[in-house]
Amino acid sequence: MRKFQNLLVTGGAGFIGSAFIRSAFTRPGFTGTIVNLDAMTYAGNLDNLVGLDPARHVFVHGDILDGALVERLVDTHAIDTIVHFAAESHVDRSIHGPAEFIQTNVVGTMRLLDVVRARPHVHFHHVSTDEVYGSLGFEDPMFTEEHPYKPNSPYAASKAASDHLVRSWARTYKLSATTSHASNNYGPYQFPEKLIPLMIANCLDGKPLPVYGDGGNIRDWLHVDDHAAAIWRVLEDGAPHEVYDIGGGNEWKNLALVHCLCDAVAELRGEPSEKYRALITFVADRPGHDLRYAIAGDKIARELGWRPSYDFVTGLRATIRWYVDHPEWIARVKTGAYRQWIDTNYAGRSA
Ligand code: NAD
Ligand code: DAU
Repeated sequence: MRKFQNLLVTGGAGFIGSAFIRSAFTRPGFTGTIVNLDAMTYAGNLDNLVGLDPARHVFVHGDILDGALVERLVDTHAIDTIVHFAAESHVDRSIHGPAEFIQTNVVGTMRLLDVVRARPHVHFHHVSTDEVYGSLGFEDPMFTEEHPYKPNSPYAASKAASDHLVRSWARTYKLSATTSHASNNYGPYQFPEKLIPLMIANCLDGKPLPVYGDGGNIRDWLHVDDHAAAIWRVLEDGAPHEVYDIGGGNEWKNLALVHCLCDAVAELRGEPSEKYRALITFVADRPGHDLRYAIAGDKIARELGWRPSYDFVTGLRATIRWYVDHPEWIARVKTGAYRQWIDTNYAGRSA
């Protein structure tokens, strides 16, 4: 088992990075520090990390593109492991403005790799996505680690490029690096631009529920805490240069999922499902919309003993309950109030 003490987490105030940090501090045997480097784009939200011990969670407002800053953090905090979540992550935004995706996801990843290149004792884990494999037909077998890369959106292409950088830097410069590809995550604290939190927030506001195309596209859903646990296992026992696919084993057509969300919100509020189902509005399809993602998690199950622990319907209900019980979290995102602390304390400067 790999021993690690001090982690540099990039993008730790986003949805998955913050879940990873919260869960890390509950892991028996982990006594180290986490330095959380985040540029605090629109997707960064320090409300996701309240209540952590500041002696063990060191938040740094800064950009992964700033190589000198990353070097300083690694050296000052005796970092032995980097867990790289920071990214532009929303497919629709990548269609409207791909440049930022190339900067952060591709150039930013290269900056981090160059820091590790000069410090090969540091292990690098790259958090990537099943979208690099492209789209499956309804009858195709699931993605495996051997599937060819066929990215279809600027986001997916930028993540695919970053995967190739990790692979090639690791092989050429003999770095200790691992990569994981996960399917669609869901859970608390997800920015309400992604399907599940957007639909829940719109149900709660009585707003239309925009379903792209005919709603027949399929996604595989993974609870964010399961994802965090899988990454932890890879950090502990993942073999250098290896790639692990992390799936939820929950394939749902979008429309069926939105129906399920409507029904669950209605049940929680003691109202008829039809009130929410009537909000469903079919809108123009996403350009280049991938039909289906599905991941076979055989390798990580066999080699690292990790399997998803969440049953989807239970996890989804708990997630809906969380959003219903935390209207202030959604309100602070929607009004922009979640930016106040960072804008006040870090306006115009980085670490
Ligand atoms: P997110 O958009 O919620 O969070 C991304 C975080 O990165 C934000 O806090 C943002 O401020 C930060 N960031 C962006 N650019 C930065 C930069 N240049 N320097 C430093 N920080 C920067 O994303 P997420 O959904 O939590 O995804 C995290 C990672 O997981 C991404 O790499 C994504 O590709 C991958 N992933 C996401 C999913 C999913 O379903 N959301 C699934 C598989 C893989
Ligand atoms: O598969 C992993 C990927 O999952 C991650 O790498 C990405 O970071 C993450 O954003 C997610 O990508 P998707 O494009 O699959 O997620 P999104 O929530 O944007 O959309 C899920 C599905 O729902 C997709 O088929 C598009 C559809 N959709 C989405 C939105 C936002 C709608 O029908 N209406 C919507 O308003």
